[in-house]
Order: sequence, then C-alpha cells, then structure tokens
Amino acid sequence: IDAALSDGPLRGKRIVVTSGPTYEPIDPVRYIANRSSGAQGTAIARALAVLGAEVIFVTGPADVAPPEGVTVVKVETAQQMLEAVQGVLPADAAVFAAAVADWRVASASSSKIKKTKGGLPVLEFAENPDILATVSQMEQGRPDLVVGFAAETDHVIENATAKCARKGCDWIVANDVSHETGIMGGAENDITLISDAGAEDWPRMSKSDVAARLAERIAQALA
Ligand code: CTP
Ligand code: CA
Repeated sequence: IDAALSDGPLRGKRIVVTSGPTYEPIDPVRYIANRSSGAQGTAIARALAVLGAEVIFVTGPADVAPPEGVTVVKVETAQQMLEAVQGVLPADAAVFAAAVADWRVASASSSKIKKTKGGLPVLEFAENPDILATVSQMEQGRPDLVVGFAAETDHVIENATAKCARKGCDWIVANDVSHETGIMGGAENDITLISDAGAEDWPRMSKSDVAARLAERIAQALA
C-alpha cells in the first residue's frame, strides 16, 4: 500500500469497513465473544486501500493485525461499534464484515461475580443494535453502497437473500460457516455474492482473493 495506490480506481472514495468479533462484558474479567478472527474484514480493508480508497476500519478485538494505510478505530462492544460507525459517516460505501454479537448481558456487573455456595449466576440478555440495518435504513447520508455479510449454517442463499432484504442492504456476501467448512478462523472463504443482479457463486479461494475481487466490484459500482 501507499504511493502506487493513491492512483487506483477508488481514489477519492471514503469507505467504512467493520471487522472482527465484538466482546460483550459479563463482569470486569469475563466476556462473551465469537470465533471471528477478523481475517476477511481485514483483507477487504486492505484491498480497498490498495485500490486507493480512504478506508476507516472499525474493528473489534481481532486475532489479525489491522492493515497498513487505513484509519483504525478499535472498539469492543456492539454498541461502541455502532457509535464508531455513526461517528465516521458519511462515506461512499460501507462493508459490514464484523461478527457483531447479537446479544449483550443486560446488566454487566461492575465487580467480579464471585462463586457462592450452591448458587449459579443467571445471565439476562438484551438485543444489540443492528449496525448494518441502522446504516442501510438511514434516511439522510446513507452510503451509496452498503454491503453486508451473512454467516449461515443452513439454507445459506435463501437466508442471506432474506437477510439483505430485511435489513435493506444493497449486496450481501453469503458464506457457510458450518464448523466443517473451516471458514471461521480459516484462511479461505467460499462465498456467494448476492446483489440485484442475482446470486453469484464464487469458487473457494483465499480470503485475500475474495477481498481483492470484492474490492474490484465495489470500484466498478462506485465508478
Ligand atoms: N450485523 C450488524 N449488527 C448486528 C448484527 C449483525 O451490523 N448487531 C451485520 C453483520 O456485520 C453482517 C450482517 O449484519 O454484515 C449479518 O450478520 P448475521 O449475524 O449473519 O445476521 P443476523 O441478522 O444477526 O442474523 P442471525 O445471526 O440470527 O442469523
Ligand atoms: Ca448475528
């Protein structure tokens, strides 16, 4: 990334990318998380920057380091991620690759929960805000292109198509995250790009190749 790239097809375009898991605290020492490594979101942010975009990378606590040449905003919880995204808009496009926790602990304890004789803690949950849906449905200043991801284990295309329609995004990248696919936490991805042009099944390839190809498509769409 750098000099050579500032001349790419996404020069002058501002793109927000979310990535990684979120951590939802239970108490000061414990949290609820998920298996997202942040690899696919990181690769997408890098690929967009390589094509010359100004990338704002809003990331949860990921395993992989953020790419060079992007503005990094680190967050932990879903609520923080929403606020961070809202704080960096407007943008020409937004790609929501983060594995956002659907629920948070309703009232996280400010002190460590201790074992008590014969007692088990009971956690109550509250639903997190849906960042993709919130941005997709903005009445003013909505990015021209909003891309979601759909992590599914069953009826992948059907569920992903319905998810995109429900949330109001423009494209959705569907992938099968069944454990045996090795996709979550792995180096490869096997996706179907769903847009108004239909469902396009891409061959299984590295996450960086998926990212490069998606970045090219985004550049065409924004041109
Ligand atoms: N997403 C989001 N905010 C949330 C939950 C999800 O922005 N609170 C985004 C993800 O980044 C992804 C898309 O929504 O781009 C779909 O996430 P997914 O977990 O597959 O969908 P959900 O609507 O949460 O449905 P479910 O987990 O029940 O399948
Ligand atoms: Ca979810």
